[in-house]
Order: sequence, then C-alpha cells, then structure tokens
Amino acid sequence: MILQTKRLILRPWDVSDAEQCYKYASDPDVGSPAGWQAHTSVQDSEMIIKSVLSKPETYAIVLKETGLPVGSIGLKFHSDLADFDDECELGYWLGKPYWGQGIVPEAAKELIRHAFEDLNLEKIWCGFYDGNEKSKRVQEKLGFKYMWTTENVPVIDLGEFRVGHVNCMTKKDWQIQRINHFEGLLDQISGAVKKLDDAYNEFETLSPQIKELSEYYESSLWRKDFEDDEAGELPKELKRGVLSEDAVYDLLEEIKEIKEKTGCFSE
Ligand SMILES: CC(C)(COP(=O)(O)OP(=O)(O)OC[C@H]1O[C@@H](n2cnc3c(N)ncnc32)[C@H](O)[C@@H]1OP(=O)(O)O)[C@@H](O)C(=O)NCCC(=O)NCCS
Repeated sequence: MILQTKRLILRPWDVSDAEQCYKYASDPDVGSPAGWQAHTSVQDSEMIIKSVLSKPETYAIVLKETGLPVGSIGLKFHSDLADFDDECELGYWLGKPYWGQGIVPEAAKELIRHAFEDLNLEKIWCGFYDGNEKSKRVQEKLGFKYMWTTENVPVIDLGEFRVGHVNCMTKKDWQIQRINHFEGLLDQISGAVKKLDDAYNEFETLSPQIKELSEYYESSLWRKDFEDDEAGELPKELKRGVLSEDAVYDLLEEIKEIKEKTGCFSE
C-alpha cells in the first residue's frame, strides 16, 4: 500500500533504504525518546528493516521533493496497548534535520484516515514517555485524548524503566474532529462572503455620492480646481487629498474593482 499527502509518500521500507535509514536512526536523539537503541551500522539498519520495519502497515516517510525516506510511521497490531483486532497503536520517528516542519503530523493524519476509513478500525492508541514533549505535542495536534499514566514502564531495548502516558482516538472522535473542521471552514467562507456582500450593499447606498464624485472628477470644474491648486491660488487649508488626481482616481478604481468582485453576489 502506498499513501500520499501534499509533501509526502508513505510506502513500505525496502532493504535498499538501509543507508538512508542509518543516516537518521543512528542518532540517539531519535531512538532514545522512542525507546529503542540507535542503529549501529548500515548492516544493523538493514537487519531492522527486514525484521521490524517490514511489518504490515509500517511505512517509510518519503519526501516527494527528494524521493528519499527521512523517517518511519506505522500501525502496530496486538501491541501492549492494542488488545483487540479492531485496534492498533500508532508509532513514528523522524530524522532530526526534519523536525519542526509538521511532517509527522501530516503523515499521521493520512495514516489515521487510512486506519479508520480503509482498515475499518475502531480505536488508535498512541503513547509517549514522560518528558518527550515533541511527541506529546504531535499527539495533541492530532486530537488524541489523554487516557492514563503508568509508572515504571519497562523500556526493554534500553534496559530501563520510564513513566508512560497513554492517549487514544476512537473512530467517533475522528468523525467529530472532521465535522468540526468542516464547520470551521464553512464559517470562515460564509464570513468572507458576507463581508463582500456588505461591501456591495454599502456601495449601493453610496451610489449617488459615488456618481457625483465621478462626474466632478471628469468635469472641467475639477480640472479648474486642480490647476488653481497646482498654481497655489487656493488657500492652503483647502488642499485635501481628494483633490489630487491620484487620490480620486485610485478611490474610483478601488470602488470599481470591489463592485466587480462582489458583482457575483448581487444577482
Ligand atoms: C516527535 C517527532 C516525531 C515530531 O515530529 P515533527 O514532524 O517534528 O513534529 P512537529 O513538526 O509537529 O513538531 C512537534 C513539536 O516539536 C517541537 N519541536 C519541533 N522542532 C523542534 C526542534 N528542532 N527542537 C525542539 N523542539 C522542536 C515543537 O514544540 C513542535 O510543536 P509545535 O508545532 O506546536 O511548535 C520527532 O521529534 C521525533 O522523531 N522525535 C524522536 C522520536 C520520537 O520521539 N518518536 C515518538 C515516540 S512516542
């Protein structure tokens, strides 16, 4: 299965990705917060691709821009958190140079859609170890809900114990999130349409004044006023911006443009 987002392709890992995988997974700042040992060599990465990253629903996060994998994301079934067949656990990591660009949230959103829509799952679990603020933030942004905290969780790969926080998202949560999102879009768009409508109505009300101003601007009277003003024959306090050619012209052009834009709402 291959999934896509605006910037990313999510596709199965391949042994030929070993070098690229090692480049990022050899950094202890990537593995340790997630609870695994940094990869020790390209051969080690190759072995991990064969044994761990080749599991079902595990994807390399590939940047469309370069075509290269920079991280991993996957759904684990029958894990410590996901007991039932219609549940899974979301896990992810990303190469340090790419942190902070919203890449994992973008990939996770698509994988969550895939889990609920294509795989018909009911629940997605996601956890993080105490202190992993970046992962906590990713889960908050995705809309996961806090469930519980466990003291002394064994981190087997690193031979230590940590405090673990557990979050969850149900299919219903995801649906509500989607409806809220689209209701927000609807409000935003209808707000903008109303503002344009208001502008149109305002110009309708002001149309006699606009007409009067354009006629003055096009008449010989305005030319006389302008020329006298240029010649310094008018008192200083009369010198208003509206008499200058640019100001009146710009104003009338602006009104014309807004009228054209709002015209589609008037009929
Ligand atoms: C957790 C992780 C996957 C986040 O991925 P990401 O694509 O960088 O996620 P985001 O861009 O949404 O950043 C998440 C938060 O990290 C923080 N952050 C981002 N870049 C950072 C950086 N360079 N240094 C410190 N904090 C940073 C920000 O608080 C950000 O939240 P914000 O968007 O509200 O500002 C990534 O940091 C990582 O791989 N960490 C190590 C492995 C890991 O912890 N995996 C999860 C195990 S549970």
